[in-house]
Amino acid sequence: MDKISLKFNTVNVSDGDISRNCPSELKICDSLANAINNLPIADFKDDLVEQIRTLDTMIILGETGCGKTTQIPKYILQNNINRNELIVITQPRRIAAVSIAQRVAEELNQICGNTVGYKIRFQNVVGPHSKLIYATDGTLLREAINDELLLKYSVIILDEAHERTVTTDILFGVIQAAQEKRDSQNLLPLKVIIMSAALDVDHFSVYFKNAPVFHIEGRRHKIDIFHAKEDVEDYYFTCLVTVFNIHAEAPPQEAILIFLTGQEEIEKMAQDISNISKNPECVGPNICTHTLYAAADPKSQMDIFTPVSKGTRKIIISTNIAETSITIPGIKYVIDSGKVKIKSFNHVTGVNILKVETISQEQALQRAGRVGRELDGVCYRAYSSEQFEKMKKSTVPEIHRCNLSAVSLTLLAMNKNPRTFNFIDQPEECAIKKSLEELYDLGAISDPSSLVLTDVGQKMSLLPLDPRYSKILLSAEKFNCVDEILDIIALLSTDNIFLPCSSNSNGYEIKQKFFSSCGDHITLFNVLRSFNSAKSKQNWCRDNFISFRAMDFAKHIKTQLLSMCSMFRIHVSSCGQDMDKVRKCLISGLFKNIAFLQPDKRYCATSSKQRCLIHPSSVLHKSLPYCVLFTELVESSELYMKTVTLLDPECTTRFNIEYYFQVEAALTTSPDDPELLKLKKDLKEVIELTTELIKSQLPDD
Ligand code: CDP
Ligand code: MG
Repeated sequence: MDKISLKFNTVNVSDGDISRNCPSELKICDSLANAINNLPIADFKDDLVEQIRTLDTMIILGETGCGKTTQIPKYILQNNINRNELIVITQPRRIAAVSIAQRVAEELNQICGNTVGYKIRFQNVVGPHSKLIYATDGTLLREAINDELLLKYSVIILDEAHERTVTTDILFGVIQAAQEKRDSQNLLPLKVIIMSAALDVDHFSVYFKNAPVFHIEGRRHKIDIFHAKEDVEDYYFTCLVTVFNIHAEAPPQEAILIFLTGQEEIEKMAQDISNISKNPECVGPNICTHTLYAAADPKSQMDIFTPVSKGTRKIIISTNIAETSITIPGIKYVIDSGKVKIKSFNHVTGVNILKVETISQEQALQRAGRVGRELDGVCYRAYSSEQFEKMKKSTVPEIHRCNLSAVSLTLLAMNKNPRTFNFIDQPEECAIKKSLEELYDLGAISDPSSLVLTDVGQKMSLLPLDPRYSKILLSAEKFNCVDEILDIIALLSTDNIFLPCSSNSNGYEIKQKFFSSCGDHITLFNVLRSFNSAKSKQNWCRDNFISFRAMDFAKHIKTQLLSMCSMFRIHVSSCGQDMDKVRKCLISGLFKNIAFLQPDKRYCATSSKQRCLIHPSSVLHKSLPYCVLFTELVESSELYMKTVTLLDPECTTRFNIEYYFQVEAALTTSPDDPELLKLKKDLKEVIELTTELIKSQLPDD
């Protein structure tokens, strides 16, 4: 990972208790002192410091905006409870880790990377004098693979615990084990603090051996919440109307934050707002819109924090990524659609599904909590109070709805058994079984019951990628197409590079310019080739409706992955024009995602037997090839395959036959395993089907 070098001031931290003699580097910046002293948490400071000093593990509960994330780590630092060692505080999202680290550095009158730094995937802003690190939970978990006791930290704070991301869940277990082990081996003691904004913290407390709960009461600013008078069917339209109702009356400096579900919908809303505001009948000041979604690159995500010119209203349209942790300056209004797009994994079909769902009451509170941070705020909900009452209380923890392959891979890399790991909420046995089978299929373990990673598995665990992408990258050497695969994985790891153009919002038309008959993966690659050869990249992007930021971020990811390749001594080979090699290589990780065209013009996904269609954004959408490989299945009005590549049925059959033999071999050790028997039957069917097709295409003798 690249370290950003900054100029550092020397921090003279004294050995003893520094609370009475706080070094100037830890003094609060004058202009912010007033605001900080007025936060609800300030009334609890002495008590909190005392408790944190005494307890090994504690849970801190407080309303959004009371000052948990920004102030508590600073209290620890200023009172040297960390004993000059590092403090790390985790955030489920990159944008929170970066923006809060910058804010806390500012509160200490410093630049980020000095006393306060941050670590996120593909970026590390930590200096030799850093003591307080804001990190994404994923980054800390990857560190634990190399150092399961996390010995460089004396205090670990798991923030936003109520979000229950799968990574935070795993960290609960890893950190509890580290704390016990460090204790029993007389190593540096580890202090653990769990922070949450949701009321139901008993679950955490029980898990952490009845750890005491500290309540921070109060909120500085008022939030008025309004529900729709009647049940809302069209949340998009309701949100749009609400924007212009506010816009007509509120002064320009009062910014609006809208929660919608996904990139396409968000870009459409930005476009609609822009079009309507140009209408001479529209009253209100100028508008500056920002869009925000998870896959966007960190630089464009940070744009939402920049002030707009005087007399202009800022409108931010975001997914649930802005739901927790962050404070966006000037936000006075939140408009909550009540919807969220979430990924859920079906263990039976083995397919990840992206679906729009109603949020939970807890999420609704978090969304409202984005106002009332610097000033009083208002939250308009695009749902009635009856609809609110019908929402589930809290969100289903991610561990119950995600593919556990990455989790099992990480646990195995730490020599932990996924079946006996001390989960805060135990996933279903069949989910763990499936994940181990997938790791076996990917070659990360040598048989589905093995707990030891193969060489490939070890390498896969160190790559910050989905295990299937890691496998593709590690197979690329064999196919002599490492360079091309690095480009494709980097592009798949960033957001949609295609910007909506006026005629078609899903980018189908733009993609035709870079069309490859092989499908979307190679089309993406063609875009990158064109981009690389363009003289003025910004102009080229504008002319082609391509997001410059996304391309830039993809390049950044590729650089990071290249450094990992050199660590693994992978030779960066290129297959030149031979894109067949790339397609074969993609199969090595995505072999479960293959579908065949059926007589009714729908596709049948081989591993799950689900009926699906090619997504309209795919370049293959209109050509209906017989056999395709897809990156993911997405459910909206239909079940769609996204990012699709055309496959040669012969090559697929060969691959399936290989897989069939592997299954047969596994059956010799467990002949009655129903899953394996089923897999064997399914594979046989697919092989027969494709063989027949190939035969029918052969010329007659
Ligand atoms: O973690 P919690 O929700 O309790 O609050 P926080 O993130 O520590 O933020 C506490 C307060 O600091 C917010 O309510 C804002 O008033 C202020 N803050 C800010 O003005 N700008 C930031 N970037 C972060 C926090
Ligand atoms: Mg917080």
